[in-house]
Amino acid sequence: MNVFDPASSTALSIRDLFLLVVAISGLIFLAVGGMLAYCVVAFRQRGDSDSAEPPQIYGSKPIEVAWTVAPVLIVFILFLVVIRTVAQVRQDEPPPDAKTLRVTVVGRQWWWEYRYQSYGDESLGFTAANEMHIPASDADEKRPTFLDLQSEDVVHCYWVPRLAGKTDLLPGRTNRMWFQTKQAGLYLGQCAEYCGTQHANMIIRVIVDPPDKFAAWLAHERQPAVDDPTQSAGKKFFLGLNCVKCHTVRGTTAAGTAGPDLTHLKSRETLASGMVPNTRANLREWLRDPCGPDGIKPGCLMPDLQLDKRQLDLLVDYLETLK
Ligand code: CUA
Repeated sequence: MNVFDPASSTALSIRDLFLLVVAISGLIFLAVGGMLAYCVVAFRQRGDSDSAEPPQIYGSKPIEVAWTVAPVLIVFILFLVVIRTVAQVRQDEPPPDAKTLRVTVVGRQWWWEYRYQSYGDESLGFTAANEMHIPASDADEKRPTFLDLQSEDVVHCYWVPRLAGKTDLLPGRTNRMWFQTKQAGLYLGQCAEYCGTQHANMIIRVIVDPPDKFAAWLAHERQPAVDDPTQSAGKKFFLGLNCVKCHTVRGTTAAGTAGPDLTHLKSRETLASGMVPNTRANLREWLRDPCGPDGIKPGCLMPDLQLDKRQLDLLVDYLETLK
């Protein structure tokens, strides 16, 4: 997460604006600080006694005009530059020649839901969680990503510094943002609006894939869940638990929508919105006690199901098959 290392044109415009504002503020700081230091040293002489006051003078019209007009001009210039940057960054329609990915991002306490809408002319209609894969652009083809930002509960804020600026997710409203990048790789971000206990652990992971890798990921993600006949006992156990009221596993009767979609749980690298690596041990620990004071994410909204060791193993064995 580095605002000085932009990987998209949007982030570059914002970085340049930021540097300009820092430079102007820095100059003002040096001017004011310098004059202050000069005055403290140059006029340090006292009168005959400590209580003697220096000569009292009433202000000066030219100076007062100068220090009113100069800041107004500076603010006006910054205002114009900001307007220009906002215009550069805000582009409501994708270029007509671009292959556009459209995703609805839903902020939730305390994780991210990604509803994949369409890619180019193709409609998608599946849901993922916490890790968003998007395609990289290249010289031949632009592949921008357009996000519709919504919230299911409180105000969150989507911020991946190397790709774009911050945009709030507000209940009852849809905000939009977009970006594109040619650099494949992992981009980290953070919820940037305080939204409750686990605000700091709403980590954003955007994975920019080369186009062929992205196409393969899409094809995999659209499939229903793997049905491994050797784990039918675990599957039956899972489907009989309260898990199904909040989680969806496509291809089964689990169709809850309050929690992350688990259809391809094990295709993700992390658990609990980027908190821990998605290993068997961490998954088991998560199911043992997700929300308690000793749990992985204290205060999170997934209840502790009070499973015993045998039940935990059964459940983990099944969830491990959801590749
Ligand atoms: Cu979501 Cu802070």
